[in-house]
Amino acid sequence: MALTSTTGILSDDKREEREQIVEMLTKAYWMEIETVMSYIANSINPDGVRAQEIIESLQKDIQEELGHAQSFANRIKELYGVVPGSADFKPEQQSLQPPDEQTDLVHVIRGVIEAESGAIEHYGHLIEACEGVDWVTQDMAIEILHDEERHRRLFEGFLREFESEPRSGV
Ligand SMILES: [Fe+2]
Ligand SMILES: [Fe+2]
Repeated sequence: MALTSTTGILSDDKREEREQIVEMLTKAYWMEIETVMSYIANSINPDGVRAQEIIESLQKDIQEELGHAQSFANRIKELYGVVPGSADFKPEQQSLQPPDEQTDLVHVIRGVIEAESGAIEHYGHLIEACEGVDWVTQDMAIEILHDEERHRRLFEGFLREFESEPRSGV
């Protein structure tokens, strides 16, 4: 396979490490793809005056999450992996399914926090798996982790506000 590279993550003797990282990158890729789907739906479904800030924020995040998916996919290829086809997709974001009432923004906010937390946890594992083995994937994952921490922090702020203000009776 790697005909010229003798050291580093692309070398023949790093096959096992490489395959483990590709597997983790693939999981990360699917998480981002599902997040894109969930954020599209949740940036369109919500009703009400207070929905607007959530909608705008999620609209912006969609592009970022799509960029993350593309970064993970590119890295899969660079590590001699193959980006999977849609037939391999398995949904996992139960908490980001549409609420019964489209004015139920707390449901959406909690779902976003859960999705971001799941990504933060997985990318932490990926960063650890790359230690001393694959600096490039590690560097990329750290940068993406930073984005997810920023997303979670923003939605934690939304949750604080929505839970502290009593619902208007309108
Ligand atoms: Fe992301
Ligand atoms: Fe995110």
